[in-house]
Amino acid sequence: MKNFKDKVVYQIYPKSFKDTNHDGIGDLNGVTEKLDYLKKLGADMLWLTPFFISPQNDNGYDVENYYEIDPRYGTLEDLKRLIHEAKKRDIGLMFDMVFNHTSTHHEWFKKAMAGDPYYKDFYFFKKGKDHQPPTNWESKFGGNAWEYVEAFDEYYLHLFDVTQADLNWENPNVRKEMAKIVNYWLELGVTGFRFDVINLISKESFEDDFTGVGKRFYTDCKKVNDYLRELNEHSFGRCQHTMTVGEMSATTIENCLRYSKQENHELDMTFNFHHLKVDYLNKEKWTLMPFDFKELKQLFNDWQIGMQEGGGWNALFWCCHDQPRIVSRFGNDQEYHRESAKMLATSIHMMRGTPYIYQGEELGMTNAYFTDLKQYRDVESINHFHILKKQGLSDDEIYAILQSKSRDNARTPMQWDHTLNAGFSDQTPWIEVNSNYTKINAEEALKDPNSIFYHYTKLIQLRKQYSVIQEGEYIPLLEDSDQVFAYLRRLGSKMLLVLNNFYPQEAAIQLEDIADYELLLSNYPEQPLKQELILRPYESCVYYRE
Ligand code: GLC
Ligand code: CA
Repeated sequence: MKNFKDKVVYQIYPKSFKDTNHDGIGDLNGVTEKLDYLKKLGADMLWLTPFFISPQNDNGYDVENYYEIDPRYGTLEDLKRLIHEAKKRDIGLMFDMVFNHTSTHHEWFKKAMAGDPYYKDFYFFKKGKDHQPPTNWESKFGGNAWEYVEAFDEYYLHLFDVTQADLNWENPNVRKEMAKIVNYWLELGVTGFRFDVINLISKESFEDDFTGVGKRFYTDCKKVNDYLRELNEHSFGRCQHTMTVGEMSATTIENCLRYSKQENHELDMTFNFHHLKVDYLNKEKWTLMPFDFKELKQLFNDWQIGMQEGGGWNALFWCCHDQPRIVSRFGNDQEYHRESAKMLATSIHMMRGTPYIYQGEELGMTNAYFTDLKQYRDVESINHFHILKKQGLSDDEIYAILQSKSRDNARTPMQWDHTLNAGFSDQTPWIEVNSNYTKINAEEALKDPNSIFYHYTKLIQLRKQYSVIQEGEYIPLLEDSDQVFAYLRRLGSKMLLVLNNFYPQEAAIQLEDIADYELLLSNYPEQPLKQELILRPYESCVYYRE
C-alpha cells in the first residue's frame, strides 16, 4: 500500500506567488524563496500549475513544449534548485500534465498543419457534414468545438480554446509521447503528477448530441481506464513514492472509483467539482445564488461514503486557480472572516481523502471584488462579460456576477506583507493585488498565534498524528440539520467527532454518546461537550476519543 494518506498538498499558481526578478510575474525562484514558509505550514507536496513554454492563451494550460520551462518563470537550473531545496525539506513536487490537448503552437500540431500524416494522426481532423462541423459539440469556453482548416477541408477538435487542440489518444504514438514526458520529469526528481481534465482523453464516438453539448461522447469513456493503466505501467507506476491525482470533469462516483482504486493501477485519487456547483442557478455558472447547504452536505456524504465503500480515494479541496475564494463564497469574509475560514478548513480536512490547500487560502484570502473590466485578466471572465452584456444585463449586475464567479478571484498576488504590492513584487503585478493586503497577509498571520494560518498547521499535524483521520471510516451525523455539517470518523475504538456550523446564527444540536471525548481543535474558546449543544456563529470543533 502506498503511503499518501497522511499527506497534504499545497497548490501554487507560480504567476501569482512571488516575483524575484522584478517583472511583476511570479517565478520558480519565488517558490524556492518561500520554501521555509511552506515547510512551516506543513505542506508535504507542492502542486505547481503549468510553467512550460506556452503562448499563455489559457495561462499555461496550452502547452507548446512539455520539456522546456517558459523563460518568464525561470530556467531548468532554477527548477533543479527548487526540486533540490524542496527535497532537503522533505517536500515533493507535483507537476501539472496537460495531456488532453496541446497548444496549436506545439510542433506536433504545426507538423500536422503542414500535412505530415504521422502528426495529423496525433489530433482529430475530421470531414464536416454539409459545410457544417463534424458534430454539434460545444467547446467548454463557448462556441462550437471544431475549427475549420481550409487547406484540408477538414476540422480539428478543441474541447477548450481554439488554440488548444485535442490529442488523439487512440494513437499509440501519442500515448508513448505522454509516457516519455512523465518519465523525463520523474528522472529529474518530480514525485507527483496532476493530470488535467484526464477523463476527457477518450472520444467514444463522433455523433451529434441532441440532448446536451456533447459531453457524454467524450467524458469518462471506458478507454480512459485502459489509457491510464498503460501510462501508469510505462511511467509513474514504476516508482514507489509517487502521488497522482486526476482532474475529472463532470464525472461520477462510479467512474472515480475505477480511476482511484489502488488495485486498478491507474491513479491515486481524483478531483471532482460537484460540491462547487451548489451556488449555480440552473447549473449555470454565470449566475448569482446563495449556496444550497443541504445539497452541499448531501454531495459530501454521497462522495465520502461512495468512495469509501468502493475502495477509492478523494482529493479534498475548496479552492484552486479556477474557483473563487471559499471564505467569500461559503463563509463570511467580513464579520466572521477568521471563524468561517477556520471552520471551512476543518470541515474538509477531517474527511477521508487527501486535502489540497490553494495559495493564500491559509491566510483567508478573499475574492478580489474588481469593479472595472480592465482589472480582469482571465479570458473566460472577459468573454462572459460580453456574453452577459448581450443578454441584456446591466453593468452592475454583471460586475456582481464576476465578483462572485471569476477565476481571477483566485489569481490575485499572494499577500506576503503590508509593503508595496503585498510584498509580491516591487513592480506593477500582472494582475492587481487585493486591497485588503495590509490586513490579510502572511507576515501578520505568522505573528498571531490565533491566526487562520496556525489553524491550518494544526489540521495538518492532526492528520499526521491520528490514524483515524488517515484511515477511519466516514459516518455522517445530524443529516437533517439545516445549519450544521457533522460527521464521525471511526477506526476500531478510535473515534473522531467533527461539528461545523456553516452560518452566522447559533445552531442548537442534539448529540448522543458523547462520553470520554476530548477537544482537539476549535475556532472558539473551549466549551464543554454536552448532549444539547449550541454552536456559535461558524463554530467548528473536533473531538477525539480512544
Ligand atoms: C483545467 C484547468 C483549467 C484549464 C482547463 C483546460 O480545468 O484547471 O485552468 O482552463 O483545464 O486545460
Ligand atoms: Ca518574475
